[in-house]
Amino acid sequence: MYALKQSEASLSVFEELESEVRSYIRSFPTVFTTAKNDTVWDKQGKKYIDFFSGAGALNYGHNNPRLKEKLLEYLASDGITHSLDMATAAKEEFLTKFNNVILKPLGLNYKVMFPGPTGTNAVESALKLARKVTGRNTVISFTNAFHGMTLGSLAITGNRFKRNGAGVPLHDSVVMPFDRYLGEGIDTSVILEKYLEDNGSGVSLPAAVIVETVQGEGGVNPASMQWLRKIERLCHRHGVLFIVDDIQVGCGRTGTFFSFEPAGIEPDIVCLSKSISGYGLPMALTLLHKDIDVWSPGEHNGTFRGHNPAFVTATAALTYWENGDFSKEVGKKAEKVKKFLASLVDEHPEFLAEARGRGLIQGIACSEEGAAEEVSKTAFKAGLLIETSGPNSEVLKLLPPLSISEEALNQGLDILARSIKAVKQSRLSVAARA
Ligand SMILES: Cc1ncc(COP(=O)(O)O)c(C=O)c1O
Repeated sequence: MYALKQSEASLSVFEELESEVRSYIRSFPTVFTTAKNDTVWDKQGKKYIDFFSGAGALNYGHNNPRLKEKLLEYLASDGITHSLDMATAAKEEFLTKFNNVILKPLGLNYKVMFPGPTGTNAVESALKLARKVTGRNTVISFTNAFHGMTLGSLAITGNRFKRNGAGVPLHDSVVMPFDRYLGEGIDTSVILEKYLEDNGSGVSLPAAVIVETVQGEGGVNPASMQWLRKIERLCHRHGVLFIVDDIQVGCGRTGTFFSFEPAGIEPDIVCLSKSISGYGLPMALTLLHKDIDVWSPGEHNGTFRGHNPAFVTATAALTYWENGDFSKEVGKKAEKVKKFLASLVDEHPEFLAEARGRGLIQGIACSEEGAAEEVSKTAFKAGLLIETSGPNSEVLKLLPPLSISEEALNQGLDILARSIKAVKQSRLSVAARA
């Protein structure tokens, strides 16, 4: 019988009983047990610094004590857990706080819709609403976009492998080049402008344009503020709804609550999920301008739109946004990570192509095929969780909790630097032997 090493977990239950579709378990092959803020432990007691944060669902860290306290109190008091879209005290508190802490101070005049509790539910509801409001069917999205795995969201997602999984034609969508897709200095908003304005372009006037301000799954691609403003203006000029998918980079990831705040834009629809509950509990919101709230009652329903424990932790998470302290803290950490990654690229110019990102979503693009995945594996063995993104998994994506301690941030960056060096050296010695 194969004897397990002390540090090696058996995954046989998952291999035997869970579908082949499982994925993150393959990047991080161990059985996790407990977690606190920026650190996760497995069954063997091995500790990992978390630069993954549940793919952006844990911006406030694992088991955040401020949120946990409110959640435990709520559960102990037999507060309502499930409520469809009936009125509950927990939802009332969330809506009031969200309005007072986020919407009002920003002068945003949104109504809040609760779709099903995952990101793709928010996107589907946004697409449906845009089509209903405008009476048009096409939606324009961008190269390397990721909006989710249900059919409507897949139709506006770039990744070929994910799209192929649909098994049916994906339609009613048109793709345009994202900012920098055609290289530095080429303003791709001009292409969208031309297609919208030219009666011979073959592209019908769309219901909406949907954009991520920083593409997460697509390879950590930040759009410039100027480009975002141009896209918004173009939409408004043509009576097209402008949707921002802030599912991965909203809720403070870039340093402000909404990622689009520094651009000074006001999308017609905003999709939020992942870190909106703050605790990893499923929850999603679709924010829509009051004047496009044309839904009929029950026209977009779903059983799990009233997950009250998530409303409780979401309300507690909003306390981080009552003043500017948290945002400043994120800004400082982001600056540190940015400088560190730039120095890594300087140190390994032939191995690392580019460092890029905004706030605490940062990436390093590796030049060699398979290198980023190898670095991620090496880092995992050394006690760091870091995933890859991009169409060829060529980008190491750093997504630490916004609440990460300075010590854990330093440790994680150190493991990353050592892992990059180790993979580079092992590849060099293989090449030298060949
Ligand atoms: C920008 C963006 N939109 C939508 C989604 C889909 O969210 P979910 O996986 O919760 O359906 C994701 C998930 O990674 C995302 O990053």
